[in-house]
Amino acid sequence: MKNNHDLTSCHAGKKLAKVIAITNQKGGVGKTTTTMNLGYSLSQQGFKVLLIDFDPQHNLTNYLEGEAHSFTISEAIAEEISGETEYVSSLIQKYTESLHYIPTNLSLSAIELKLVMTNAREYILTDILTNLKIRDQYDYVLIDCMPALNMLLINVITAVDSIIVPVEASYGAFEGLEQLFEYVKMVQKRLNRDLKIEGIVYTKVNNTKISKEVREKLQDIYPNLLLSIEIKELTEARKSYAERIPLEEMKKSRLAMDYSNLATEIAVKRGQG
Ligand SMILES: Nc1ncnc2c1ncn2[C@@H]1O[C@H](COP(=O)(O)OP(=O)(O)OP(=O)(O)O)[C@@H](O)[C@H]1O
Ligand SMILES: [Mg+2]
Repeated sequence: MKNNHDLTSCHAGKKLAKVIAITNQKGGVGKTTTTMNLGYSLSQQGFKVLLIDFDPQHNLTNYLEGEAHSFTISEAIAEEISGETEYVSSLIQKYTESLHYIPTNLSLSAIELKLVMTNAREYILTDILTNLKIRDQYDYVLIDCMPALNMLLINVITAVDSIIVPVEASYGAFEGLEQLFEYVKMVQKRLNRDLKIEGIVYTKVNNTKISKEVREKLQDIYPNLLLSIEIKELTEARKSYAERIPLEEMKKSRLAMDYSNLATEIAVKRGQG
């Protein structure tokens, strides 16, 4: 069995996984697209990556596998709540050798209600990651969040090192951002002192006046948070998603190029570039 000092399977050799949540309570801003493409790009750059689908809409699971799984993060949480901690190893699925994922299903939304009545409810995901020794096995763990501020999100931001916030180039871009950052502050104060904001990634960017204005406003309000790599609005993003085109086949696309640059920016920030 591995312990915390046996990290030979990690690309970096010395570091434990960096765990990052991809979150924004606004729907459709590119959270799932960012999770899978950034994850794939990081795996292409030699890192071992785990994606966790933490959205009951299970878009990420659908994209990666397309079939229902009998054991998902929902069942793992239910077991953790009932005190069983013997997770079957099949919770983790392989997409490629270096890109793994934990699927979810619709019952994750019912779990939210159970969590509200559970002791130490904020730490359930933290405990699952610990029990599975996730940090020992990967370089990066990316968690795709649902578009909501709720107990599931509290679980996620209590468990992670940092968050990436995709913000879409549209007039409604700022809706809910301040509330999200309030949540972050609350969690930093009480549950996860070390929580950082990795950055805002500007998505679906085009040459319109709106794109330009929203970028300027983001730079104005969050000068230290806006990541320098932005993701262009590309029809191939929608197509690849709708048709479930394997990430390998998208490798040479413009979308993959943007996300590869973003992966480099994230790795460089961590000192791994
Ligand atoms: N860069 C892009 N260019 C064009 N379309 C994009 C881009 N990124 C994402 N999309 C499309 O926008 C839609 C929403 O994207 P996505 O599902 O990633 O957002 P989300 O934040 O995860 O949504 P939800 O809040 O519902 O989980 C999808 O149809 C996706 O294909
Ligand atoms: Mg999503």
